[in-house]
Amino acid sequence: MPLAASLCSFAPDMNSLDAHQLARNAPNMESMPQKRRTTRLAEPSPETIEAAAACLRAGGLVAMPTETVYGLAADATSEAAVAGIFAAKDRPTFNPLIAHLTDLEAARVEAQFAPEAESLARAFWPGPLTLVLPAALHCRVSLLARAGLDSIALRIPAHPLARALIEAAGTPLAAPSANRSGRVSPTTAAHVLADLDGRIDWIIDGGAAEVGIESTIVSCLAEGVSLLRPGAIPREAIERALGAPLAIAGGGKQLSAPGQLESHYAPRAKLRLHATYVGADEAALDFAGALARRPTKAYLDLSPSGDLVEAAANFFAYLRALDSFGVGRIAVAPVPGHGLGAAINDRLSRAAAPRSAPG
Ligand code: TXA
Ligand code: MG
Repeated sequence: MPLAASLCSFAPDMNSLDAHQLARNAPNMESMPQKRRTTRLAEPSPETIEAAAACLRAGGLVAMPTETVYGLAADATSEAAVAGIFAAKDRPTFNPLIAHLTDLEAARVEAQFAPEAESLARAFWPGPLTLVLPAALHCRVSLLARAGLDSIALRIPAHPLARALIEAAGTPLAAPSANRSGRVSPTTAAHVLADLDGRIDWIIDGGAAEVGIESTIVSCLAEGVSLLRPGAIPREAIERALGAPLAIAGGGKQLSAPGQLESHYAPRAKLRLHATYVGADEAALDFAGALARRPTKAYLDLSPSGDLVEAAANFFAYLRALDSFGVGRIAVAPVPGHGLGAAINDRLSRAAAPRSAPG
């Protein structure tokens, strides 16, 4: 699909950008990603973080740990550096990316905060909340990172290594999850290397991601406050901070969350959801031991004790592990829908969806 067409298809209310102009200026994404030597920082120090930050300032790509999942970071203000992210991930469309910053003051330079946005930022930043806001007049984040939209997604991560890297880079960092397009999000440095070794410059190893599931995305635009992506902060907590119920964007059609393409989180195996048994040739992803007594090729329980926080932390790693057995299908036990269960069920239904448009 040509760039201009793909931009228009996920930017229905785009009005401030000439998509053809952006298409002319955009680097050629058809070419192979640049071959890079990937350096792994196993024990990051201020000096090595500074070296990775210098690489970012020079337009390089650095995978960084965050409290949710590993992100693939580039200087958000550079079109060329951001283009490198899309190339390394083999991302077929220019989904808008989240810009990561160190604090609310830095965020105010890039976006406008209505009172609801202000309260959510104060309640949850630093932490796993992404706010979609009207871009500020002098927003420095590149058009490619914003996919030409006049809104912008901002997040202030809590992970100390992510914070140190953003601080040292001295620029907002655009960072999608550090996986190849269509694969599940990485929660360890090994996952990142399995997908991106030789395609990125550095990886900062911060151990296993604490939360294991991406940030919750809330849109605070002129049309009101709405949930674009369930994630690490449960909807109930957001509603408590707002003192009001949270609408779901686009009546569930997700038009305003272009990255929410159906097959975003896809293992190679097919998923059979809400399973009550395991077939002879299936692997099993269990929850709270519901499928435990069935014989199976490969079996993992997200949380034997039924703890949704533990289940979220294990989710992507377990999907990858079961997928690596090469089974055709994974039977997945039902996961309750409250708290972090909403985000887990959202990722499960995406992983089970047809593979038409990976992100
Ligand atoms: O936890 C996370 O959010 C991780 C870590 C690395 O921070 N990042 C992450 O990024 O999950 P990514 O690119 O995989 O997902 C970003 C989502 C996409 O669904 C994208 O469409 C949406 O944010 N997004 C970004 N800008 C947007 C905008 N202006 N309007 C609506 N959605 C937007
Ligand atoms: Mg992702």
